[in-house]
Amino acid sequence: MAIEHIFLNTDIPKEFQINNPIHQKTYLMDGEINTWSGEITNVYAAICEQKNGELEQKLIGSIPNMGEKNALEALDAASRAYDKGRGEWPMMKVEERIHCIQEFSKMMLETRDEVVKLLMWEIGKSYNDACNEFDRTIEYIEDTIQDLKKMNAEDSEIHFHDGVYAQIRRAPLGVVLCLAPYNYPLNETFCLLIPALITGNTTIFKPAKYGILLLEPLLKAFQKCFPKGVVNFMYGSGRTLVTPIMKTGKVNVLALIGNSKTANAIQGLHPKQNRLRLVFGLEAKNAAIVLPDCDLDLAVKECVNGSLAFNGQRCTAIKIIFVHQDIVDEFNEKFVAEVSKLKFGLPWEKDVNLTPLPEPDKPTYLKELIDDARSKGAKIINENGGNAIASFVYPAVLFPTNTSMNVFHEEQFGPVVPITSFKDINEPLDYISDSNYGQQVSLFSNDDDALAPLIDGLVNQVCRVNINSKCQRGPDVYPFVGRKDSAVSTLSVHDALRSFSIRTMVAFKDGELNNKVMNDLLENPMSNFVRK
Ligand code: G3H
Repeated sequence: MAIEHIFLNTDIPKEFQINNPIHQKTYLMDGEINTWSGEITNVYAAICEQKNGELEQKLIGSIPNMGEKNALEALDAASRAYDKGRGEWPMMKVEERIHCIQEFSKMMLETRDEVVKLLMWEIGKSYNDACNEFDRTIEYIEDTIQDLKKMNAEDSEIHFHDGVYAQIRRAPLGVVLCLAPYNYPLNETFCLLIPALITGNTTIFKPAKYGILLLEPLLKAFQKCFPKGVVNFMYGSGRTLVTPIMKTGKVNVLALIGNSKTANAIQGLHPKQNRLRLVFGLEAKNAAIVLPDCDLDLAVKECVNGSLAFNGQRCTAIKIIFVHQDIVDEFNEKFVAEVSKLKFGLPWEKDVNLTPLPEPDKPTYLKELIDDARSKGAKIINENGGNAIASFVYPAVLFPTNTSMNVFHEEQFGPVVPITSFKDINEPLDYISDSNYGQQVSLFSNDDDALAPLIDGLVNQVCRVNINSKCQRGPDVYPFVGRKDSAVSTLSVHDALRSFSIRTMVAFKDGELNNKVMNDLLENPMSNFVRK
């Protein structure tokens, strides 16, 4: 298929067709699935269709466009459900909260086909990647449950030091505002929401700009499995909805996967900054460093996959490649050959790798990056590189790139791969230490002597050093974190439970009265906190 033909045709498999636009008229707030009759915002697919001789992103539905009043209603509902820590949900036994999440997970499984289909349409994710996103999320929920059970059992211990007994557990923080990104609108959402909920917080959730309709099939499960007001959804412009909520000072945790500028602006709106805990996964400019003695085929394979999986729209993507000058020509030749094997097409096509992009402005932005680099001496070294038609952009591999070019510093978050050569290892190392970002790096080498000092220096600049492997978040049990403008707080199955809770203890001075009280509380399960 030629790039010119990457738009809707009549060959959509039946199971993936959207025959009528999905107009979402419902929203979950304060335990009710309400009907929306106000303003709406149209939802367009990442995929284009021919209309009046033009290619346009296909209209697939609409969502509510809420205002300040609705945002404050969501906040009130979440605050009431938390009820100053005395609400049903924050006071509930951990086992009971776990049960609710298990029920939710069961109901969620029933929505798999619908959610996967909408992931494909709304953000252009391939069928395989969409299935992976769904299944990985279910696994994340199960792993979170197991981790919390273990944590809870360990926290049952009664400590005794210097004449004071204590039981130390983790307690919720309050109202959590969750803002998710479009590239993993299901997985990243749940990697925030599930740990926030299971630890006893109440939540307000605003989906990203794209990937919204796919959450609608889950509203019933949220309503059925959680007490009133524990989960509240709002839809619309971030500025309109988030600003008034933050200004009240009633949000206790801001959980956001997105961009550092947005995160800083939102955080700055809170009048009591010390009350606000931040859980941020932000942008990155992960580098690959390819040393002369590496397994070149492996390095190329990992760098292609690392930079172009889901069209480069991963915060963990390799976003710049430094190759030693002695092997750069061979690396480039193999790299472009490998890129040319990537299949492009529509998300439901078998084994497709490259798909249309959901952000309407992205093709123009990528073109600007490419033009800027070319005007400063870079060349597009792969056939068809940068060719774009409507929402589809064929990957552009740029070489040589240098510090004067925007693509050298900006997170492109799309299918543009800048390659640069180096002679002295300090060139990539200085790039990383001078960068505003500090998420991950990939090192490619077979030489332990060369690797060891690089590892030892780089672990102090980024949070994950990948050896002969692409950068990635998973497995989700490992810490996902970053330095500088790449993250605040740590996410992983275990760390997220800690990020959304605080160690809190009940202490007893040793003595007849207290020993009796403590024994009574432990023997007769009256408290949900102090117990065996
Ligand atoms: O965009 C950030 C995602 O969490 C990346 O996850 O590395 O597993 O694709 P991934």
